[in-house]
Amino acid sequence: MFTILNLFKKNYEPRPIFAALGTDMHCHLIPKVDDGSKCDEESIDCFNSLKAVGYNKVYITPHFQYPRFQNDEDDIRSRFATIKKTAAEAGVEIELAGIAGEYRIDSGFKNRLESPRFLKIADKYVLVEFSLHQQMMGCDEMIFDMQMKGYEVILAHPERYPYLGVQGSRMEQLKNQGVYFQINVLSLGGFYGDDARRKAYEMLERGWIEFMGTDLHNTMYAQALRDLSCSRKVEKVLEKYEFMNKTL
Ligand SMILES: [Fe+2]
Repeated sequence: MFTILNLFKKNYEPRPIFAALGTDMHCHLIPKVDDGSKCDEESIDCFNSLKAVGYNKVYITPHFQYPRFQNDEDDIRSRFATIKKTAAEAGVEIELAGIAGEYRIDSGFKNRLESPRFLKIADKYVLVEFSLHQQMMGCDEMIFDMQMKGYEVILAHPERYPYLGVQGSRMEQLKNQGVYFQINVLSLGGFYGDDARRKAYEMLERGWIEFMGTDLHNTMYAQALRDLSCSRKVEKVLEKYEFMNKTL
């Protein structure tokens, strides 16, 4: 039935603009292991949305965060095998290419470094994040330690840390020491606020961004991604800059 609400409802078809990236390398679509997808159906809906906006491969990256998400690598691997089978049976067309983690550099991280079992993106990159609320002392040193041990480190969504600026900042130092940066595509549309959007564009302009990720958590994020795929401005970003997603 047509109601007055239909007048205000968005009715855009998703466009496959993210085919320019090909691979999504950051999302939370293993059901019930973190603050991401709550069930198989939600994961399948999100996989279908990723496909609809142009992705053909996805790496799933559950949180490893002490003490909130104390995930175990073997358990996560097994859950990935299960959702991969479920998705195939449901006719999902995007390739579930692999399982990795989004490791928070927190008080438990030092132990991880001493007996590392990192789940890596494409068997190569360790995705790390900082606290979204407050700076933790020693973060940068731990990243440096990782690099000394031979890890390739990607910092997730550097635009989202409100206590970190861009110019003349720790960000610049991390960039100079060879840390890869991954921004969230939804930041480009202001999903996380104006500050994150502004910083995302500034870092792109500086040539600091090697990877783009969706950081998809659930169907609400998936709808935001579908809406974003209608943005000509975002399409232009994907045309203008080179990203390494296709190497994954
Ligand atoms: Fe994430």
